[in-house]
Amino acid sequence: MKQPASPHLEQRGPSREGNAALHEQHLTVAGAVTTEMNQPTARQAEAQHLLQVYGQLPIEPVSAHGIMLDCGDRQVIDFYGGHAVASLGYAHPVVVEALAAQAHTLFFQSNAVALDIRARAAATLAAFAPDGLDTVFFGNSGAEANENALRLACRLTGRNRVVAIEHGFHGRTAAAGAVTWGSEKWYAFPRRPFDVDFIVRDSVESARKLIGENTAAVILELVQGIAGAVDLDPEFVGGIAELCRRNGALLIVDEVQSGVGRCGQPFATDLYGIRPDILTTAKALGGGFPCSAMLVTDDIAASARPGDLGSTFGGGPLACRMIQTVIEVIEQDNLLENVRARSAQIRASCVTGPVESVQGRGLLLGLRCRRPAAAVRNELLEKNILVGTSADPHVIRMLPPLILEQHHVDKLAAALAALPED
Ligand SMILES: Cc1ncc(COP(=O)(O)O)c(C=O)c1O
Repeated sequence: MKQPASPHLEQRGPSREGNAALHEQHLTVAGAVTTEMNQPTARQAEAQHLLQVYGQLPIEPVSAHGIMLDCGDRQVIDFYGGHAVASLGYAHPVVVEALAAQAHTLFFQSNAVALDIRARAAATLAAFAPDGLDTVFFGNSGAEANENALRLACRLTGRNRVVAIEHGFHGRTAAAGAVTWGSEKWYAFPRRPFDVDFIVRDSVESARKLIGENTAAVILELVQGIAGAVDLDPEFVGGIAELCRRNGALLIVDEVQSGVGRCGQPFATDLYGIRPDILTTAKALGGGFPCSAMLVTDDIAASARPGDLGSTFGGGPLACRMIQTVIEVIEQDNLLENVRARSAQIRASCVTGPVESVQGRGLLLGLRCRRPAAAVRNELLEKNILVGTSADPHVIRMLPPLILEQHHVDKLAAALAALPED
C-alpha cells in the first residue's frame, strides 16, 4: 500500500485500515448509527479516495425515476433536484433514449470540427432564450460560463472594475469566485483578476454610487438561489440595466440556477423585461448531463475572434443532444405551465407548520421558517422528503424537477403541517 506523502494526510478522514470498523456501520437519517452486514456505506467508501470537501446528506440513492430517489430501504421525494440540475427528473424516457441514440451515433468530437448536433442545440437554445441573445458559446459548468462572460466584459470595455450584488453566488473559479459574496472564506488566490464592488441588494442608491465609467460589467442573479431564492426587486434591476447602458458597462445575467424553465418562463430574464448583454446558464440545461452556455448579443458576437475563448468538452455531441432534448421536452410537455401551477400550489398550501412565508419564483422557492432551516430539512428527510437549505439559516430551498406533480406537493404540505411550528 502507498504510504501517505505527508503526516498531515494521515489525519484527514478515516484511514483505510481504521475504516474497517466503520464498514459495519450505517448512518440513518436521524444521524444514528446502525449495524449492517460488513458493507461500507457509500459515504465511508467515498472517504477512502475522495477529497472530503462536501457536507453530505444521510441518504444514498442507488437509482432514481421521475422525482423519486430509491435509497434502498426507502423512497424519497426529491424537491432538491441535485442542486437544480434534474430539470426533467430522473430516467425520463425521452432523455434516456436521446442520450443512448447520440452515444451510438457520435459519442465525442471537439470544436476542431463543426457538428450538426452542435448547430441544432445552439439554434434551439437561441430560439428559447430572450430576444437579442442569438449567439452561444458552450462550456461545461456554470462557473466556466461566468468566467468567460467576465473575461469578455473586461476585454470589450478595457475596464478593470466589476460590480456584483451582495449575497450573489457565481461559482468557484478565479473570476466567478471574485464576484461571489462571502467568497473570502474559500477564495484562496492571492489576488482577484479585477476590482470588485458589491451593491446592497435592492438599493438603487447603492447601484448609482458603484456603477460608473470604470465599470466593465455588472453581474447578477435575478433570483438569488443560494441566498435562499430571493427575487430581486424589478425596479432595482431596471435601474441597474439603465445605469449599465448610460455608463457603457455590460449587464451579465447569471441564470445558472434560475434558467431553463425553472422560474416558469424560459429564463427569469423574461419576467424582468430587461435585455442583458450576456446571459449564462447551466444546471437544468443538460438535465443532468454536465454543460453550460453563454449567450451574447449580436454586437458582442461580432467582436469575437478565433482563439478568444475555448473549451475541449464544451459543445460536445452528448451535451448538445441533451440541451436540445431538454428544451424540446419542456416545450412539448407544457412544463412552463406546470412550473407556474405547482409554484402557485406550494404558495397556497405550504405556509403551514414551521413555514411562515414563501419567496422566489416558479420552482426556485425559499420557504422561510420560524426555526432553523437545517432542523426542518432533517425532519422532512425523516418523512422521506428531500429539500435543500440555503445561505439564510431560516430558509429551506426547493429546486424540484419541472415535472413535479400535484400529489407530490400535497405530501410536502401534509408533512410540513405535521411539524412543530416553533
Ligand atoms: C447562480 C449560480 N451561478 C454559478 C454557479 C456555479 O455553477 P457550477 O457549480 O456549475 O460551476 C452556481 C452554482 O450553484 C449558481 O447557483
